Amino acid sequence: MDKIRVITVDGPSGSGKGTLALRVAETLGWRFLDSGAIYRVLGLMVERAGIISVDRIGEIVDMASNMPLSFRQGKTLLEEEDVSDAIRTETAGNAASKVAAIPDVRRALLDWQQGYAKSPGLVADGRDMGTVVFPAAEVKIFLTASAEERALRRYKQLKGKGLGVNLARLTKEIRERDERDSNRSVAPLQAPQSALQLDSTMLTIDEVFQRVMQKVYLTLPDLLG
Ligand code: C5P
Repeated sequence: MDKIRVITVDGPSGSGKGTLALRVAETLGWRFLDSGAIYRVLGLMVERAGIISVDRIGEIVDMASNMPLSFRQGKTLLEEEDVSDAIRTETAGNAASKVAAIPDVRRALLDWQQGYAKSPGLVADGRDMGTVVFPAAEVKIFLTASAEERALRRYKQLKGKGLGVNLARLTKEIRERDERDSNRSVAPLQAPQSALQLDSTMLTIDEVFQRVMQKVYLTLPDLLG
């Protein structure tokens, strides 16, 4: 059987990697995996169950091993409940980053993520896609942006939804999450070796997309047809 092709897009929250990865997947007609959504759903489940505490790690790992999660038509479903909006809150993001720091949780979710690689190919977005989950990926992208710019993007997004937000608090939370994601013992956020590293602080999403597609077609010229 032919090897399934994979493109990984890693980076911190708000770097634009989700938008980029989805656009690359749609352009190529490949599958798309938003691995952050998996951690966010687990964070939501743990919050709802009120068990976010280090002495209940066993229960959290059990939940991770038996997550009734599916992605359908752009929606994230927990059993039959559409949790697409509920997992996008800052609370769910912070809970996600806490459960994501538990090594056994990451191990429990590994097969699930790797099983997502199906023909003709997969674009996977996250923190450790190129380093741990798909180390043999053909193309690896690492997208960053300054914490201030990422907080500002999030601020505009939330304001646009009519939500009351505080820019200084958002910046502080983004820095805290970066710190936790970068310093955890397993799969810390770091650029994979051989990744194309891009800083999107001063680039538009179109510019980032053009550079990434150039890299994709240079590495996999047969995709040009
Ligand atoms: O990418 P997103 O902001 O949705 O991810 C939410 C949280 O899930 C991150 O802050 C990170 O802690 C965790 N995560 C992870 N590994 C991934 C994807 C997300 O640890 N591959």
